[in-house]
Amino acid sequence: MEHSAGLTTGLVPTMGAFHEGHLQLMRAARIENDRVVVSLFVNPTQFGVGEDFERYPRNLDRDIALAESVGVDVLFAPDTQQIYPRPGCTIHVPVVTERWEGQIRPHHFSGVATVVCKLFHIVCCDVAYFGQKDLQQCIVIRRMIDDLNIPVRFSMQPTVREPDGLAMSSRNAYLTPEDRARAPMLQQLLQSVRKAIKEGNCTPDQLDKWLHSASTKLEIAGFSVDYFECIDLEDAHAVRDISRPCALIVAARIGRTRLIDNLLI
Ligand code: PAJ
Repeated sequence: MEHSAGLTTGLVPTMGAFHEGHLQLMRAARIENDRVVVSLFVNPTQFGVGEDFERYPRNLDRDIALAESVGVDVLFAPDTQQIYPRPGCTIHVPVVTERWEGQIRPHHFSGVATVVCKLFHIVCCDVAYFGQKDLQQCIVIRRMIDDLNIPVRFSMQPTVREPDGLAMSSRNAYLTPEDRARAPMLQQLLQSVRKAIKEGNCTPDQLDKWLHSASTKLEIAGFSVDYFECIDLEDAHAVRDISRPCALIVAARIGRTRLIDNLLI
């Protein structure tokens, strides 16, 4: 596509299996732009060995209908050969990818940054929309745009949740009924730590104890916790001083499913 004078293009990059979280991004793009492009590409380079690339939910007909229902102009669904015709350049975003998801899923963020950069250029978008659900991904993309002077405005939209607080995710479909019933604990514990921070005397030691105790509660409920942390929104480092913009982040496995969630402070 080409930039055209006076008209703005909003891009929503996705891997499909649309739910209300994706649709909210599309609606935000629709309100703010003349043209809305949604990309649908299950990007192999951001999945690790043994992750769910093969079983990732795919339903193109349903996704086309949903995108149409919210007024998307173009659904761009390339195949792997079109995006990766040969082994090519990759983007490594330092520092903000070192911990959390980046540590547990090596190469994940290089795969994300590379495909998102390619999509920006293919679509020639003015604005790109991402969900707060994947907070570290937002930090990484924002940093890439900044470091590489990419002329795209970054827009982060709030996490859309199920009525019981569980963040919507294509991967929620993997949950057994028992695990689904326990999954809202992630958001509940994030809320309770934030409440403690707001109401209590939040010294570094005290915050450490609250985070540790929330993590222990998840383990007792049957989760295997990868991290429960408080991070700086700029550089994604763990922080105990909450005077700068920061967020609580959690990742935990239950059964065969890995869930992530976060809460801004
Ligand atoms: P995917 O998981 O399909 O998500 C596409 C976009 O939807 C991301 O920006 C994600 O943060 C957002 N999203 C997912 N669940 C959400 C929710 N409950 N509320 C609000 N937004 C939500 O994230 C990816 O795809 C890929 O990594 C991608 C950026 C497309 C690169 O391949």
